[in-house]
Amino acid sequence: MLPSQLLHITLTYGSPLYIYDTATIKQQYSTLTQAFEHTNARFFYACKALTNISILKYIRSLGCSIDCSSIVEVQLALHAGYLPSQVLYTTNGISFEEIQQAVAYGVHVNIDSLSNLAKFGATYGNSYPVGVRLRPNIMAGGNLKIATGHSKSKFGIPVTQLQELLAIHHKYNLHVYALHVHTGSEIKDINTFVQVIDVLGGIVPHFEQLQVLDLGGGFKVAYKHGEQATDIALLSQEVYKAIHALEQRVGKQLQVWFEPGKYMVSSCGYLCTQVTVVKHTHNMSFASVNSGFNHLIRPMMYDAYHYIQNISNPTGVHKLYTITGNLCETDNFATDRSIAEVSEGDILAIHNAGAYGFEMASNYNSRYKPAEVMYYNGEAQLIREADTFDDLLRKQVIIDDEVLS
Ligand code: LLP
Repeated sequence: MLPSQLLHITLTYGSPLYIYDTATIKQQYSTLTQAFEHTNARFFYACKALTNISILKYIRSLGCSIDCSSIVEVQLALHAGYLPSQVLYTTNGISFEEIQQAVAYGVHVNIDSLSNLAKFGATYGNSYPVGVRLRPNIMAGGNLKIATGHSKSKFGIPVTQLQELLAIHHKYNLHVYALHVHTGSEIKDINTFVQVIDVLGGIVPHFEQLQVLDLGGGFKVAYKHGEQATDIALLSQEVYKAIHALEQRVGKQLQVWFEPGKYMVSSCGYLCTQVTVVKHTHNMSFASVNSGFNHLIRPMMYDAYHYIQNISNPTGVHKLYTITGNLCETDNFATDRSIAEVSEGDILAIHNAGAYGFEMASNYNSRYKPAEVMYYNGEAQLIREADTFDDLLRKQVIIDDEVLS
């Protein structure tokens, strides 16, 4: 979006403010669907990236299915109008009760432990098709915190435990329709997906009713100018080259599922914040804004780079600033970053804030979570109000003064 549009919306709704541009979501989704046009691939938006119901509804309107990582996300998806057949619940070490709830909703379920798979078998036998999440023991992803397929990751049943997995499969005569692998987030190297297909290739023949290889999400987006994102057209070519070879080998057709989160919503989102204080010191100039890692934790949690633009002074002379929040804890968004000259009162837009931005926000320091606005068809629509004092108190059970005296 243009700096002037972001500025206008921020001045209308107040800051800090999350703004999501639906045209960008549409464009990201079309890149995926066009690249995979002549294939049987299916996309499930990994909604852990951003679960605002209006965004979920918008993504549903594009025809995309949805991947959930908790039973409440499943409930949100159904609430947003997804059919159970469009909902996938990729579980990790969750209680079996949640899996039973998911089955009651009739959604697709991926199970990631031998323990839950055995409970599933004992409860449902082969009456409910199930997906099995595997750990391929492949290291991939932008950094260790977001890598999930390596040999020390908690996720999935290690492929080295195939015999134990098959024992459960045979004991309960399970209807395993899918094998799932998610190796990590921010995977640029397409070869990782090909390697996963290769690992799965040896396992596929053990499951007679298998129809789906679910390759998870993790496509990289460009956080910096000039940075390379995952080449989706090449991904489609290489994945299907490997899939076709596998299909020949095993003598059956396989559907490919993907679960993109970041790719769908990262670049649609901006966190717009106001500069509260400019502080010049002998070795650094600080621009403090009315936000912090309570609103966008990625820079502090993953050392993630987010492009920051001074939308009040987009053509100003560039200077170095450390852009920091207002928390009573170090909460830098960027260190010694070159941006257009900053004055107190300016609005800064932090880019790529759509995925894992608001979703990972908290009320730390008793600060309110910001409002969210969706920019749709040339108009800004409020899709969440900012917190108020009452919201912070709402769930507290307050002890009477008399009891304390
Ligand atoms: N499928 C599964 C099973 C996942 O665990 C994830 C992400 C995805 C799909 C979507 O991955 P994506 O396409 O968004 O990379 N908070 C971190 C990212 C954590 C990802 C967790 N799992 C961040 O802000 O970088």
